[in-house]
Amino acid sequence: MNNALYVSYNDVHKIIKDLAEKIKKINYDPDIIVAIGSGGFIPARIIKTFINRPIYAVGISYYGVDKKHRDHPQKIQWIDEVQDQLKGKKILLIDEVDDTRATLGYCIGELLKHEISEIAVLVLHNKIKEKDVEMPKEVNHYFKGLEIKDVWICYPWDAIDIDEHTKLANKGKKKK
Ligand code: G4P
Ligand code: MG
Repeated sequence: MNNALYVSYNDVHKIIKDLAEKIKKINYDPDIIVAIGSGGFIPARIIKTFINRPIYAVGISYYGVDKKHRDHPQKIQWIDEVQDQLKGKKILLIDEVDDTRATLGYCIGELLKHEISEIAVLVLHNKIKEKDVEMPKEVNHYFKGLEIKDVWICYPWDAIDIDEHTKLANKGKKKK
């Protein structure tokens, strides 16, 4: 794909490690990690290596279980059984990319309904573009690995041929 940004598993791991160091440096100490699926799952698991907290998984999508596209994101899977436990907790919310911010914004709004004490957001990539929503003012930290222009990012977990994908990711770095 023209202009696509290929990102390898190594890249993902290093971006997360750098972000974890930043989080520790400012003494942000979350109680729980909330991962937005599916793109946030692997980043969340990697951050757990550096910041060892329980991970709650949520699924938010423009597509319902009937696979029909909706005009706004909706919950596919939510943490019903633990949402009472969100009360008073410091949350680190993880997704792979801040694109239009529609999914992220919706998820933050839902989490804020549960009397959480703090919420910070972490993404691997933030696309520099006009967003559908502003970052809610309740978000007290926004950790972003890389800020990039509005191109399609190819993440390693979507690769059919991971060797070819990694080669493209490494080639892209050499060009810079
Ligand atoms: P945002 O709040 O995180 O900005 O997401 P937005 O609603 O704008 O994006 C809709 C879907 O498109 C999300 O996937 C998001 O992860 C995905 N997306 C946006 N830009 C890119 C990109 O450059 N590369 C890739 N690979 N995905 C992108 P989703 O519906 O949450 O599905 P999932 O893929 O996370 O399961
Ligand atoms: Mg996603």
